[in-house]
Amino acid sequence: MRFKVAISVSVLILVLPSASVIAAEDLEHGRRIFRACASCHPIETTHSAFGPSLKDIVGRRVAAASDYSYSPAMQAAGDKGLVWDEAALAEFLVNPQAKMPGNKMRFWGLWKSQVDDVVAFMKTFSANQ
Ligand code: HEC
Repeated sequence: MRFKVAISVSVLILVLPSASVIAAEDLEHGRRIFRACASCHPIETTHSAFGPSLKDIVGRRVAAASDYSYSPAMQAAGDKGLVWDEAALAEFLVNPQAKMPGNKMRFWGLWKSQVDDVVAFMKTFSANQ
């Protein structure tokens, strides 16, 4: 009995610190991936640039940056009420043209393994999440 308790305590000690390190690494990975997006997308301000601002993007309606002129394809998706939840963002970022044919984001897409981390990073700039 005493032996069992000792084992579970040491398992906790081993598992807890590494779990928090992994979470920190994911955000750091997301931040590095976002550098590729940042050349077109501001995320710290709501002012759009070559691409629309991605501040508050997680949970935001598609094509909702009021100072940005979207393509008809993206505008139409927004008018239909599509919201950028995590699933929609993941699908779009893996293959932007497949998710929304005709949109004007010229980007090759991300690997599935990069998407979760970049979405987690964008979430830290999204107040409505
Ligand atoms: C070469 C410039 C460029 C790069 C790089 C780029 N984007 Fe875009 N992105 C755009 C443009 C332009 C649009 C607007 C598309 C339209 O109106 O059809 C857009 C639209 C979007 C939207 C929809 C925004 C809204 O308001 O509905 C999201 C989300 C998005 N991009 C995420 C990303 C992410 C995440 C990355 C990096 C992994 C990225 N983009 C990289 C140019 C870019």
